[in-house]
Amino acid sequence: MRTIAFYSLKGGVGKTAAAVNIAYLASQAGYSTLLWDLDPQGASSWYLAGAGEVKGHKLSHLLKGKTPIAEFIHESGYANLDFIPSHTSFRNLDVKLDQEDEGNLIKQWLAPLSEETSLVILDCPPSLSRLSEQVIKAADQVFVPVIPTWLSLNSWKQLQAFARDKKLKPSKLHPFYSMADRRKGLHRELINNQDEILPKGLKTIIPNASVVEKMGEEGIPVEILAPGSVAADAYRRLWKEIRRLL
Ligand SMILES: Nc1ncnc2c1ncn2[C@@H]1O[C@H](COP(=O)(O)OP(=O)(O)OP(=O)(O)O)[C@@H](O)[C@H]1O
Ligand SMILES: [Mg+2]
Repeated sequence: MRTIAFYSLKGGVGKTAAAVNIAYLASQAGYSTLLWDLDPQGASSWYLAGAGEVKGHKLSHLLKGKTPIAEFIHESGYANLDFIPSHTSFRNLDVKLDQEDEGNLIKQWLAPLSEETSLVILDCPPSLSRLSEQVIKAADQVFVPVIPTWLSLNSWKQLQAFARDKKLKPSKLHPFYSMADRRKGLHRELINNQDEILPKGLKTIIPNASVVEKMGEEGIPVEILAPGSVAADAYRRLWKEIRRLL
């Protein structure tokens, strides 16, 4: 079982869109995939439930070990793709992780699933917290969407500093440009200088595309919604790069 995370301390950069599209492509490639929505906003749960509400379990059930993790899993309606929906109580996850000094709970919770799951994808809320620390530790690779703007690049630098400070392996952090709009001068400039700005980043650039926004209305991955679109092609290339790192 491999575990990857889509993470950034900055909000609204395309973490959930990437997590859902990559989860779908991985499942199509034959990986038995589990997407865990760790964000109390519940956006990836919404997508995988076909743009509908889905009732997750309370965090306390997991913490007390009352309910085995397998019971938290929902089927997505796509072959090979299951998910753990979020619950509003997940907003307390940070506080709980701080109180429980029992090592990496995320890793411990996932361990019983290793037989039947080949890929776990963690969709994380935007924060720099105890949860982020545990997610970065639990994940084999962490993918970080970066909008080509100074503010977003600054968040990427902060994340690298956080990883160094917490002695987390910086080499497992992989930035990639997200929501790129080449009509904007700054986006163009930062993309043209990608080799200096994100030297070890992934090469795929996810464009700003209305079809990705449309995913929200329809609750289906871009690969099904518009397989011939530039965005669908970009997510396929992103999956190819990610797959090589698994
Ligand atoms: N490539 C894209 N092109 C256009 N819109 C996008 C793209 N990626 C995401 N969006 C839109 O931008 C918004 C934020 O995207 P998303 O939810 O994926 O970001 P996020 O980083 O997970 O946000 P949060 O930090 O709130 O969890 C959504 O409305 C989504 O539809
Ligand atoms: Mg999100």
